[in-house]
Amino acid sequence: MRKAILICLILGISCKESKNYLNTSQKNTNVSVASLNIERRVDSLLKLMTLEEKIGQMNQYNGFWDATGPIPKSDNQAALKYEHLKNGLVGSMLNVKGVKQVKALQKIAVEETRLGIPLIFGFDVIHGYKTIGPIPLAEAASWDLEAIKKAAQNAAEETAASGINWTFAPMVDISRDARWGRVMEGAGEDPYLGSKIGVARVNGFQGDDLASPKTIAACAKHFAAYGYAEAGRDYNTADIGTSTLYNVVFPPFKAVTEAGVRTFMNAFNLLNDVPATGNEFLQRDVLKNEWNFNGFVVSDWGSIAEMIPHGYAKDIKHAAELAANAGSDMDMESSAYVMELANLVKEGKVEEKLIDDAVKRILRVKFELGLFDDPYRYCNEENEKVVIGKNEFHEDALDMAKKSIVLLKNENNLLPLKKEHQKIAVIGALANDKTSPLGSWRLAGDDGTAVSVVEGLQQYKGNILTYAKGADVVSPDSKVTFVNELKINETDTSGFPEAIKVAKASDVVVMVLGEHGYQSGEARSRANIDLPGVQQELLEAIYKVNKNIVLVLTNGRPLAITWADKHIPAIVEAWQLGVQSGNAIAQVLYGDYNPSGKLPMTFPRSVGQIPIYYNYKNTGRPYGENSDVVFWSHYSDESNQPLYPFGYGLSYTTFSYKNLEIKTLAGREVKVSVDVTNTGTIKGKEVSQLYIQDKFASIARPVKELKGFEMVVLEPNETKTIEFILTEKELGFYTNKGAFVVESGVFNVFVGGSSNTTLSSEFTLE
Ligand code: NOJ
Repeated sequence: MRKAILICLILGISCKESKNYLNTSQKNTNVSVASLNIERRVDSLLKLMTLEEKIGQMNQYNGFWDATGPIPKSDNQAALKYEHLKNGLVGSMLNVKGVKQVKALQKIAVEETRLGIPLIFGFDVIHGYKTIGPIPLAEAASWDLEAIKKAAQNAAEETAASGINWTFAPMVDISRDARWGRVMEGAGEDPYLGSKIGVARVNGFQGDDLASPKTIAACAKHFAAYGYAEAGRDYNTADIGTSTLYNVVFPPFKAVTEAGVRTFMNAFNLLNDVPATGNEFLQRDVLKNEWNFNGFVVSDWGSIAEMIPHGYAKDIKHAAELAANAGSDMDMESSAYVMELANLVKEGKVEEKLIDDAVKRILRVKFELGLFDDPYRYCNEENEKVVIGKNEFHEDALDMAKKSIVLLKNENNLLPLKKEHQKIAVIGALANDKTSPLGSWRLAGDDGTAVSVVEGLQQYKGNILTYAKGADVVSPDSKVTFVNELKINETDTSGFPEAIKVAKASDVVVMVLGEHGYQSGEARSRANIDLPGVQQELLEAIYKVNKNIVLVLTNGRPLAITWADKHIPAIVEAWQLGVQSGNAIAQVLYGDYNPSGKLPMTFPRSVGQIPIYYNYKNTGRPYGENSDVVFWSHYSDESNQPLYPFGYGLSYTTFSYKNLEIKTLAGREVKVSVDVTNTGTIKGKEVSQLYIQDKFASIARPVKELKGFEMVVLEPNETKTIEFILTEKELGFYTNKGAFVVESGVFNVFVGGSSNTTLSSEFTLE
């Protein structure tokens, strides 16, 4: 506090006055007054800082005891980091959690350094802090922007209560490669849906007032094209053209910038042979100049130093020079800036005005978070106890989990399950797993805190339930942590006989199969995306004795389950749904919740089809699915079609679409309306989707592009008319030079409950 007063004195204002100026919670015109005052304060503070202190603000260290990347080598490094912290050479820390620890480190920054500038604490809050919700890909399957925003809002409140004020989320990387383990962290393959969800998450995390002790700064990552890692192997090269960059990769980043996201993270990958971290085009030309982003860019973990093995920087000093000049404002864990930048400035290789610009960006966000008013604003131990794990967070997590489930198949209405007089076998190690449903990236979540499927089903007392594991997913001698390579059980089938016996004696078998929670996430790429280990064998063995199988998939990425789709009557995609997983799955299986999720990512029939996505461009030889002449674009051993397309998902009721009408309006706007009817026997919710195709353009456009969606709840036989308005924003595209154009011509419009809808009509844009 003494230091805070000192800063006020130095800045020539009273603390009382400072509180008024920094109160960004005041809406209307006061917001701009507040931000003007923040600019004034940033400038005054900057004038007082030595070059070394400025560079200190650009330095981010990991908490000394935990890591989400390669762990620092020695105790000496921890000691050095501590020295740096005491000397004002650290601006931010990551992976520090809990009020006690945050407070202890903040105290050093505020009370022991010359200027007492508070630290900003970053943490990967990817799908909840302690109350872990569905993985982001699962949330995306809900298409429910309000629920997604609420999930981020709850995560922010819980995170802030633990002292942390910045999350490294949302990940808005578009990816069309299910081999890439990080698809679990994003919103799938589509730039339109990805943009909407990214904005919902940013609004949820940041709220209207960044200084509120319930909100935290968000971070759009990984800029850019990290989701295009070649062959789906993490950290790998991305080589893509301008059209894909502008029309697919950039839109969610641009959308969250417009929504006011306060920070960006760059990426590990090369983009067209230049590391994203050293990429001036991305960070300065596009982000800071074209999009006017005035927050700051943090590097990814060690990504400045990694420009050396990329073959782009000759040594760490050169890496610091390249990254700083390219616009990476904060160095996460490379120590490149703190060690090298001062000399680079003195040698004239990095201009001090670039350092000033980076530091201003960082200080601006710290001011906005209210850290200069009260560096301990997020540090209330009593509040921490009350807020962490609140009941309402669990209620919302359950709601989100139910909304995330996608019904993939339901032959002969095997689902919902009857509630009485049934013998139900539950089979699969994942059915009884209380940790895997938490998924990856749940650093503050505790093992064993998820409701398992067995526990969820046990709450329905009318049936007789018998559980048999069948087979482990992970071999029992595997180290199961966030950082270790997992060993999958490829051989042990000793549990099969028991499972077969139980299945034989049952009316219905619920098999819970899929991926272990740590099989997706960072550095968890897979070359095969089938059911891991002996699970496929188990499924086939059970199928031989009982065909009434409900397959519940729990996984962090699309899986190629072509055999299951052919043989198993009911398939439910349940992802990794967080702490309330088992409750949500049980409610869906028993029909207390009618599923409404739609896939945010295409499921391939075979890994060889990847990359596979609905918004592809036609070849010159697109036809001939049944042709016996070979000269068309196809595989000789597999269909071109996916197993389940983007936007697909069933319900316990059915819907029909009729009366598609299109009206062109003034100002190059187009109104599309359609009647949606519930043609089944129970109430249901449908995500109605609108796609366009720009039939001929100056560059080829995709066969379909999502440009609108609406959620509609209908009673049996009820019809509602829904309307979409298409504006130039939806009808235009970026050229190969990165210019946005809206071209006249004929457009197809498709409406329906999936991207494979055929209900269409056309209009001409003059
Ligand atoms: C590396 C990951 O790529 C990034 O997403 C994450 O935020 C950082 N590590 C910090 O944990």
